Parts: sequence; structure tokens; C-alpha cells
Amino acid sequence: MDSWQDLDKKHVWHPYASLPYNGKNLAVKKTLKTKIYLEDGRVLLDGMSSWWSAIHGYNHPKLKKALVKQAKKMPHIMFGGLSHKQPALLAKMLSDLTCLPSVFFCDSGSVAVEVALKTAISYYKARAENLGVKADEKKCKFISLEYAYHGDTLGAMSVCDPVNSMHKIYGSYVQKQIFTKAPELGFDSSCEEAIEALEQTLKKYHKQSAALILEPIVQGAGGMRIYSPIFLQNARKLCDKYDVLLIADEIATGFGHTGKMFACEHAKIKPDIMLLGKSLTGGYLSLAVMLTNKEISDMISKQGAKSDIQALMHGPTFMANALSCAVALSSLKLLLKSPWEKRLKNIEEIFEIELAKAKTNSLVKDVRNIGAIGVIELKRTEYASLLQDFCVSHGVWLRPFSNLFYAIVAYTISEKDLKKIITTMIEALKFVEKGLKNERK
Ligand SMILES: Cc1ncc(COP(=O)(O)O)c(C=O)c1O
Repeated sequence: MDSWQDLDKKHVWHPYASLPYNGKNLAVKKTLKTKIYLEDGRVLLDGMSSWWSAIHGYNHPKLKKALVKQAKKMPHIMFGGLSHKQPALLAKMLSDLTCLPSVFFCDSGSVAVEVALKTAISYYKARAENLGVKADEKKCKFISLEYAYHGDTLGAMSVCDPVNSMHKIYGSYVQKQIFTKAPELGFDSSCEEAIEALEQTLKKYHKQSAALILEPIVQGAGGMRIYSPIFLQNARKLCDKYDVLLIADEIATGFGHTGKMFACEHAKIKPDIMLLGKSLTGGYLSLAVMLTNKEISDMISKQGAKSDIQALMHGPTFMANALSCAVALSSLKLLLKSPWEKRLKNIEEIFEIELAKAKTNSLVKDVRNIGAIGVIELKRTEYASLLQDFCVSHGVWLRPFSNLFYAIVAYTISEKDLKKIITTMIEALKFVEKGLKNERK
């Protein structure tokens, strides 16, 4: 009989992979706290927190308890025409935290992006009907930033950087959106050029644009680019000036990753629409939300019977899944009760001090960090798998991609384990550097 690993290889697509996959997937037996236990007996220290999601570490007993308790009562019930307690409590908690009162539950981050785009279009369509004008119907384009990443579904892909993403593969299926210069790197940058470019873009395209979508403070998968709150403050002002909604995609940055509960808080701004996902359930289950201000939900909802916009036309089968919402509630309570700000400050300080040691390596272009995120940007793209192999053979799980060698850690990681992850990254760089020098000899 085939082993489960053989079956996996034969039948299962992995992310961004071929089938059968010609790379390697490590076989995981179990996870606990910040450790990954492999089938072959090896134990890896986790430096990825499962793509920004496992903020409390794996298998937290409080989350498990919430999941089991809910599973015994009701794992799921359709949300159309029926309602239940967990999503109501979660919506209240999220709207209190964000000051955005209207909550739409989605199954994943990409779906939340789709819903946000539809919501922004619906808002302007409804507003135009309300005012008895036709013009706003044209507001159905989106402004996005260079290096943006917002997910893998078609609408979300359309607002991803067209050069750095899958636009080329899917050609005309991807809507053409409007892209503007990304903010300059650096939390302390003045971002003058990017702000000026955004103003010019808005001046030219605001009549046809429903929203500006951006990842606040950290552009993630498109380059792990950390930028200044000044850009966000100006983006907020310019969106107001040119009557374009501001969508903050906090799917990655949300729930403390940048040292604030939400990255928008660095700039003290409130978006019109906010998206949350990933760590919402502490890494247990897939759940995302779109939150909007009341004006948007009221505008979409108040049209008369003659209008074709009386509702938000989206409703996935597993909307507001009871298990996901129960775990999300438990995760949020756990986070809020924990000294999360202090923990993130410590993590940030350790990254700051330890990552700086990578700067002298000849492969390194830049080193940057914020909150639970530490990034080493390399001059070249081809070392990712060598670096990963070195880390795994030294007991650390990291997944570098392209020229980005980075760690996003659970907030509960110990100082010793965090230092081990960073030291291993630096040792991996030295190993590759030495190999290259020997090749040249
Ligand atoms: C900023 C951002 N938006 C959206 C998404 C898509 O989320 P999901 O993978 O849950 O579809 C991601 C995923 O990495 C992301 O980083």
C-alpha cells in the first residue's frame, strides 16, 4: 500500500506547485507551541508561524477547548435566514477594536478582497442611484500600489503588482487596474515621491476609481517592504479629497504583527474598509472578515425596491462558520489578555540587534524589521532553496522566496528560540557565501 506521502505526491496540489511536485515537502506529524515535529523524527523550530497565522504558537489549549466546545454544540449552520451567537459576538468585538461597525464574514483572505472590491463598486453605484445621477456607475476601477499582493483569486490578482505577480499567466482574464508608485522603503521615509505620484494618479483617475487598496505599513508577499505611516496619512487625506474609498488590507498585518493591533494605527487613520484574516483564528481555521463604516453599509442597503442594489450580493456556503468564529473569539480574548505589546516590543528589539549582524554578508542587500517580522533582502534570487536546506538541517523551519529571507514568528516565542532562528539565518548566509567563494577559486 502507498504511504500517505506517496498519495500526497500523486494526488495533491501544493501552493504554487506542479503535480506531481518536483520539489520536496517535508512530512509533518504534529505541531506544538513553536515546534514542528516531522514524521522522520526531526523537530524544527518554526520561523514562519504558518504564513502569519499561528500567533500564539501551535495547538494552544484555550483555542482547542473553544473548538471542541463549539463542535459538540454545532459545527456549522447555513447563515442565510439563520443566525447564531459566535459570529455576533465576534463581529461586536472586531467592530469595537476597529471602530468599523459593519462586518461581513468570508472564508479566506482572497475572498475578503473580492468582497471588498464588490462592496466599493456597490457603494458608488448605490450612491449614484440615490443622488439620481449616472456618473458614479463609472467608478468601478481600483488603484493599487507597485509591489502589492492581495491574494490569488481573479479580482484580488487584478490589484496585485502586474509585474511581480501572475497577471501575465492569466492575461485578459485579469481586470486592468491602475497602479501607482509604492512608498519608499523605510518607516522613517518622507515618501515624498510616492505621495506626489498618488496625488497625480488620483487627480487623473478618481472619476473612474472606487477605491485605493493597500497593505498598511508592510507590503508582504510582494517584497516584505516596510514603509512610513506618513504615506498612509497622506493616502487617507487624498482619498477623501478625491472621493475614493480607502481599503486597508490588514489580512497579514492585523492583530499585532507590526507592533500595533492594526498597522493603520501607526498612522492614526481609519480606513473606510478593512480586511482581516490569517491570524484571526490564531492559525486554527480559515476565516476572514471585511469591516466597513456605517455610511457604506447604509448606502448599499437603503435603496428602494426598484434599485438593483439593495443588498451586498455575496454569500458563501460556509459563511460565519461556527467553529471558525468560536476559535477566533477565543484567539482574540487570548491575545487581548496577553502582554502582546510587550512581547512584540521584545521580539522587535531582538530582530533589530541580531539581524544587523547579517549586514556584513556580501549576499545581503538590506535588512529590515518591524514587530514580529524580520527580513533579509538578498542581492540575488537564486539562493532560496540552498538557504532553506541549511536551516532545515540545523533545525529551523523557514521558507525564503525569491530574494527574501525572512521570519514571521509567533508572539509566544522564547528569546532563546528567536535568537536561534536569526543566528541560523546568518549562518545559512555565511554557508552560501563560503560556497560561492570556493566555486570561484
Ligand atoms: C495582504 C494579503 N491579502 C490577502 C491575502 C490572501 O489571503 P488568503 O491566502 O487567505 O486567501 C494575503 C495572503 O498572503 C495577504 O498577505
